[in-house]
Amino acid sequence: MIIASVSENKDFEKRISITPEISKKYINLGFEVHLSQNYGAHLGFSDSEYKEVGVKIVGDENQLLENADVIIQMSLLNENKTSLLKSNQTLIGVLNPYENKKILDELIKNKINLFSLEMLPRITRAQSMDILSSQANLAGYKAVLEAFSVFEKAIPMMMTAAGTIPAAKVLVVGAGVAGLQAIATAKRMGAIVFATDVRMASKEQVESLGGKFLTVDGAENLETEGGYAKEASEDFKKKQEELLSETLKKIDIVICTALIPGKKAPLIIKEAMVENMQPGSVIFDLAAAQGGNVAFTEVDKIIERKGIKIIGESNILNKLPTSSSSLYAKNVFNFVSNLYDKENKKININLEDEIIAKTIIK
Ligand code: NAI
Repeated sequence: MIIASVSENKDFEKRISITPEISKKYINLGFEVHLSQNYGAHLGFSDSEYKEVGVKIVGDENQLLENADVIIQMSLLNENKTSLLKSNQTLIGVLNPYENKKILDELIKNKINLFSLEMLPRITRAQSMDILSSQANLAGYKAVLEAFSVFEKAIPMMMTAAGTIPAAKVLVVGAGVAGLQAIATAKRMGAIVFATDVRMASKEQVESLGGKFLTVDGAENLETEGGYAKEASEDFKKKQEELLSETLKKIDIVICTALIPGKKAPLIIKEAMVENMQPGSVIFDLAAAQGGNVAFTEVDKIIERKGIKIIGESNILNKLPTSSSSLYAKNVFNFVSNLYDKENKKININLEDEIIAKTIIK
């Protein structure tokens, strides 16, 4: 069986799906690995490094796609390339079925097996495949570094002969995967960290990382059975707004990560709340692509409002492509290992397996 991947459009996506380390693992599992030319060169993985571990580099991308049994990408191939796919081929990636419905319907009609990894269930067995967690973890870390680099004051408290510089105060809104890593990173840099969330389970996690949890007065626990957030009531939103309005006046840096799966990001920091912050403060809105948690957020722009910078970044992982590719490639390998029937050397679409049933697009 041939497993293949072609170069992504590097203007938008620098991450790759197959690293040399993972190529070896696919080969040990019984696959042939085929990649396009200069597939990982921008990340320092030369074609010769891939060839050394047994990968075949194919010059003609169309031929590469036509010969593959399993194709792994970060995002969906463009229409010219998807039109080359034929029945029984398997395409795995972050296929975004809501936005790409038309192309995906066409592929389903042509009997191509499609698996979209952002739909993985958050169950123990799927943890090693969980691309949302591995990528959000890195995004939370990088958002803090980016915000700190724009902030024009020092982060840790510094006591010097010339005087003392106070530690910067950071607020993390949404203490899920990205938020918890943001808290840990900001703490390591010496900031005083506050965090808030609608799920009370996150209080203990925030505190275990040294953060101070801000509880919304009279809050009920807004958590689903699957561990995700439920939409907050109007009463909760009002109380959260009051709490954060006061807090934000003393905060230097805000990292926003609040998300409700399948919904537009909740608007949490409104215009007046931003405008009441100290000039020089920085807000990094990781939820920008889902509409943003902040009133002024614009995708892939830095907006300045009364001396406060609001950064909205849609793909921060493009600024950390080597680490994020390394984890993504491992996640996908674990997914493929579960899908592959080693004995009969074929892809086994067992719909009784929750991981397969939840990720297949039908
Ligand atoms: P997650 O689901 O693990 O965490 C989101 C958290 O927000 C949850 O703990 C939830 O309870 C909380 N939340 C929901 N509504 C809230 C509210 N009204 N107030 C306070 N907290 C609330 O999600 P994850 O994986 O940490 O992702 C966070 C965000 O970062 C998402 O919007 C995701 O798309 C984004 N992201 C952005 C990237 C980028 O490049 N811009 C890269 C990776 C993730």
